Amino acid sequence: MNNHVILEGFMGSGKTTIGIRLSYKMCISVIDTDKAIEKEQKCTIREIFDTKGEEAFRLMETECLRKMSEERGRRIITLGGGTPVCSENREVLKGLGKVIYLKAKPETIYERLRGDTTRPLLQCADPLLKIRELMGAREDAYMEAADYVLNVEDYTPESLVDKIAELCK
Ligand code: S3P
Repeated sequence: MNNHVILEGFMGSGKTTIGIRLSYKMCISVIDTDKAIEKEQKCTIREIFDTKGEEAFRLMETECLRKMSEERGRRIITLGGGTPVCSENREVLKGLGKVIYLKAKPETIYERLRGDTTRPLLQCADPLLKIRELMGAREDAYMEAADYVLNVEDYTPESLVDKIAELCK
C-alpha cells in the first residue's frame, strides 16, 4: 500500500493548480498523469487524441498509473479527468493512497474552461451540455474512487490546500 495523495475530478476542477500548491505546502513532489504521458509520447494530449484516438490515450493512462503504483515514496498525483472511469484504474487507485475528489458544478467548469483549446473532449458546439453529460456519466466512478469529497466552490485555493493537507497529514 502506497501513501500518495491523489487528486481526482473533472477537467477544470483545479487538480493541477491545487496539486502544485499542495506540493509546496506538504513539501512532497507532484506528478501529473497527463504531463507524464505527454513527456513519454513527446506530444500533447490533443495531438494524441487527434492522431491515435481516445482509446489509445486511455491505455496510456492505465499504463502510466501502473508505473506510478510501482514507485515508492510519497507524492501528490494529479489525474486526468477521465482516469477513474476505467474500473481497472480504480482498482490501482485503491492501493495508491488517499483519493481526494475535487467536485465542481458544471457551470463552474464551463466558466473556467471557456475558450480552452487543450481539452479535446470539450471542442464541440455546446460545451456546457457536454460537461453535464460527461459529469453525470462519471459521478459514480469519482465517488467510488474517493476517500474524501470536497466541493471546490466552498473553498478558496488556499483553504482547499490547507484542508487537503490536514486530511492527508
Ligand atoms: C480528460 C481530461 C484531461 C485529459 C484528457 C481527457 C477527460 O485532463 O486527460 O483531455 O477525459 O476528462 P484534465 O482533467 O487535467 O483536464
